[in-house]
Amino acid sequence: MEISEKNISDQFGRIHDYLRISLTERCNLRCFYCMPEEGIALRPKSQFMTKEEVIRMAETFVSLGIKKIRLTGGEPLVRNDAKEIIDALSGLPVELAITTNGILVNKYIDTFISSGLKSVNVSLDSLQRDKLNSITRRNYFDTIISNIRLLIKNNFHVKLNAVIIRGVNDDEIVDFIEFTKDNNVHFRFIEFMPFDGNKWDWSKGLSYKEILDMVKLKYRNNLTRMEDRKNDTSRNFRVHGYKGTFAIISSVTNPFCGTCNRIRLTADGKIKNCLFSDSETDLLSAMRREEDIIPMIQETVWHKKSMRGGMNSIEDFGKQKNRSMVAIGG
Ligand code: 5AD
Ligand code: SF4
Repeated sequence: MEISEKNISDQFGRIHDYLRISLTERCNLRCFYCMPEEGIALRPKSQFMTKEEVIRMAETFVSLGIKKIRLTGGEPLVRNDAKEIIDALSGLPVELAITTNGILVNKYIDTFISSGLKSVNVSLDSLQRDKLNSITRRNYFDTIISNIRLLIKNNFHVKLNAVIIRGVNDDEIVDFIEFTKDNNVHFRFIEFMPFDGNKWDWSKGLSYKEILDMVKLKYRNNLTRMEDRKNDTSRNFRVHGYKGTFAIISSVTNPFCGTCNRIRLTADGKIKNCLFSDSETDLLSAMRREEDIIPMIQETVWHKKSMRGGMNSIEDFGKQKNRSMVAIGG
């Protein structure tokens, strides 16, 4: 195995410089596509990374060339020590970002600003109060919208995520794009992906092509396809004259695995070399035994499959075991 000391690469030559850290499996919402209806079993706190362990993990990864860290969950901001974690990680030489459901953003806005965190992703699957509350099985629509406005007002780079599901929110695609007319946000339409307990069935999903056809019907020649940036997971567009942009993320019909640079660290300290990988490496236990975790990280990434954890076609979806999304962290 040839791996340099300084970076984390796999056998296909993909260099991994982006780490997503899930801070918790808990969430104050219950989005049906992410969480099984019955929720997921809560486990003792001792199985999860403490603040100190999160920071130590992050430092180790940074020593291996990680340049960007995104905090995810569950909902990362439900952790009581989220502020201290953000503050500590902001001292590392990385670009820091977060994915949140938006509910607690007002409580953390000062921390976001002082930490220099610039990019905030917020899940927003509907612009209609009743519908969003039904998708999330909770009643936070007004809080979420006002917090999105707060982020925009404070000049954060705001990405809004909508998982597009047939009969649920596929009728809102034009409304989502219209939201980008006066708001400088990046709306991302995500193909519905299979995870444990989310009753996935591709007939419920809309493909990249189907979404784009709907968009073209409305906007015709007023669309600009924007240049993709390196490691982009989406294809990006702008309607002429609109402040914001939108994108379609085609993980199901056209995965972007060839340029993947991500590693995931779960809240219980395991790394996954792919969102769809069915194997995990327990870094936390090794760290607690004071073992060197660097070779474990390199070994795990080295064995990353070329595509979607080994699922090469839609027919393979759902056949491999995986966690529910809330326990992976998106
Ligand atoms: N399919 C696609 N995206 C999902 N997310 C959660 N579950 C799924 C799924 N089944 C995304 C949501 C959320 C982020 C945390 O993960 O867009 O914003
Ligand atoms: Fe919570 Fe995000 Fe999952 Fe919704 S999608 S239940 S907000 S972690």
